[in-house]
Amino acid sequence: NKHAYAFLILQMALWDFDAMQLFLTVKAWTYHYNIDINVDWKTARQWCQKNYTDMVAIQNHAEVEHLNQLLPFNKAYYWIGIRKIEGYWTWIGTNKRLDPEAANWAENEPNNKGSGQDCVEIYIKRSKETAKWNDEKCSKKKATVCYLASCSKESCSEHAECVETIGSYKCQCLPGFIGPRFVQCRPIENPQQGFVTCDGDFGVFNFNSSCQFHCGTGFKLEGAQRLRCLASGHWDNALPSCQAVQCLPITDAPGGWSMNCTHPLSIHSFNSSCEFKCEEGFELKGSNTTWCDQTGHWTHKPPTCQGTAHLQNNPH
Ligand SMILES: *[C@@H]1O[C@H](CO)[C@@H](O)[C@H](O)[C@H]1NC(C)=O
Ligand SMILES: *[C@@H]1O[C@H](CO)[C@@H](O)[C@H](O)[C@H]1NC(C)=O
Ligand SMILES: *[C@@H]1O[C@H](CO)[C@@H](O)[C@H](O)[C@H]1NC(C)=O
Ligand SMILES: *[C@@H]1O[C@H](CO)[C@@H](O)[C@H](O)[C@H]1NC(C)=O
Ligand SMILES: *[C@@H]1O[C@H](CO)[C@@H](O)[C@H](O)[C@H]1NC(C)=O
Repeated sequence: NKHAYAFLILQMALWDFDAMQLFLTVKAWTYHYNIDINVDWKTARQWCQKNYTDMVAIQNHAEVEHLNQLLPFNKAYYWIGIRKIEGYWTWIGTNKRLDPEAANWAENEPNNKGSGQDCVEIYIKRSKETAKWNDEKCSKKKATVCYLASCSKESCSEHAECVETIGSYKCQCLPGFIGPRFVQCRPIENPQQGFVTCDGDFGVFNFNSSCQFHCGTGFKLEGAQRLRCLASGHWDNALPSCQAVQCLPITDAPGGWSMNCTHPLSIHSFNSSCEFKCEEGFELKGSNTTWCDQTGHWTHKPPTCQGTAHLQNNPH
């Protein structure tokens, strides 16, 4: 076998234009294959990991097409980097379960024929169902196709994820980030009768900041106490408000008094007060005024009115 391990580098590097430097070399995601010997799945993977990054992983349909064009025909076809793990088809490089939408199975596959078909081959350049997938016994011997990752730690800036693409990579902003900037949420003002404190790693009203609401004496918060700025640029909750604490209305008047209430904030609430008056000839026992306090209680019980007739009748 004179060409043992004759590896073809299908794509070595891409030239990428950059405004500042005319040419910038970018190490690209490249595919590498070996059809000189067919090996079992495990051996194929070891070889990929030793020499490159891992066995080929397929993120989308364009990559299937690309592989089908670039790889030469091999009667035994090629292994790909997917395995059945605990009953689920799993991409071994990323340990992510296969998304059924992204699967490219041949008709009536995977069929687990004869059982133990826990590995996957791709029908490169097959006359029928070309580039489709089929489950196979892992001990079968097939050609190997690997990829070499192009993403490195330096590829993208801090708040971006490097995503491998055919022959290159792209930087995808993490949720909450737009280019070099952060997602911003609408600024929040102090609620009436309260205040808000906001802070965040990326700025006061920016992505991931959180705001905590507090109400002044005699007011209680209606709504969420804490709001967080989401990656969508919206707060995760509606703005809360501070409402005056309520007291129970004073209804029964067994004491024979009349009352006159004022409600500066809202009816029967914090700072409301009621003044009591007895009818002529009756004496007021207790407090002639009561206030709704900050805890939602009246400061005084309603008074009673006592007849004074017996006093008048008393001649001394
Ligand atoms: C790949 O790995 C094998 C050993 O497993 C080694 O003999 C071979 O030279 C390597 N090829 C490349 C291109 O690195
Ligand atoms: C956003 O906040 C959450 C919860 O506090 C935290 O786990 C996450 O790391 C933050 N995200 C960033 C990009 O800092
Ligand atoms: C209630 O108080 C207001 C002002 O303090 C006064 O004008 C009004 O006459 C009072 N009403 C009664 C029923 O006492
Ligand atoms: C409640 O009444 C007190 C005493 O009269 C006053 O100082 C305070 O400003 C009032 N609070 C509100 C919110 O009106
Ligand atoms: C209520 O009582 C206070 C003293 O306790 C008194 O000064 C005030 O005039 C009284 N108000 C009325 C309306 O009777």
